[in-house]
Amino acid sequence: MSTPSQRADPSSPRPRVLITAGPTHEAIDAIRFIGNRSSGRLGCALADECARRGLVTTLLLGPCCSQPSEPAARVEGFTSCADLQLLLRTHAHASDIIIMAAAVADFRPAAATPGTALTKIRRTAAGLTLQLEPTPDLLAGIAASRVATQLLVGFALEPADGLIESARAKLIRKGVDVIVANPLETMENADINATLLWADGASISPGAMSKSDFASWLIDAAARTWRDARATRTP
Ligand code: CTP
Repeated sequence: MSTPSQRADPSSPRPRVLITAGPTHEAIDAIRFIGNRSSGRLGCALADECARRGLVTTLLLGPCCSQPSEPAARVEGFTSCADLQLLLRTHAHASDIIIMAAAVADFRPAAATPGTALTKIRRTAAGLTLQLEPTPDLLAGIAASRVATQLLVGFALEPADGLIESARAKLIRKGVDVIVANPLETMENADINATLLWADGASISPGAMSKSDFASWLIDAAARTWRDARATRTP
C-alpha cells in the first residue's frame, strides 16, 4: 500500500523517472536460465540522461554488463520477471514518468517443470522437454493501475516490415501513452532508428542516432508530453 506522500505528485514541476532495462533470466534449475540478448545500454543511457538533468531517477536493471555512469541514478537489480514485478510494486506509484525498456520474458519454466527447484537437471539419454507458462504483462498491469498524471512509455521490438502497425496495436492493447517502435533487425547496432508513437495518433521518426543522443531526445519528448498532459489536467 502506498501512503499519500509517496504517490505521484501532480504539482511537482520536475518528473520523477522510473526506468526498467536489461533482460530477465527465468530459472530452469539452479544453474540454467532462459534469457535474451538485451544489453541494457539504452536504459542506462536514459538513466544517465535523467540524472544529468537533475531528475530523481531510479533504474531497475536486469542481469547485464551495462551500468549507468551517473552516480545520482539510483539502481536496483532484478533477475526474473517476478522480481521486476515486485520492484515495480514498490516504485511505480512514486514515479511521474515510467519507461519500460526492459526485455521481459514472455514465458518462463512452469513451476511443475522437474528441476526448477534449486537442483541441477542431470543429463539423460532421453532428452528434456521444458513446460513454459506465460509471464504476467507488467506494462499492461501498470497501465491498468496507474493514476492519470503518470506518463507510461513502452517499447516494441518488431520486424521492420509492419513495425508501425504492430507497435500501434501494442500501444493500444497495453494501454500506454507512448511507445518506442524499434526495428528488431537493428537490435545489436550501435545506433538506434526508432519511431515514437503517441496514443493520440501522432508519431515522430527522428532518424538514426547514437543511443545516448536518442536517450536525450526521448527524455525531451517524454518530459514535454508529461508536462503538457499535466497542464491540461491541472485547473
Ligand atoms: N513487457 C512487460 N511484461 C512482459 C513482457 C513485456 O512489461 N511480460 C513490456 C516490455 O518492457 C516492453 C513492452 O512490454 O515495454 C513490449 O514488449 P514486447 O516483448 O515487444 O511485447 P510483448 O507483449 O511481449 O508481445 P510480443 O512479444 O508478442 O510482441
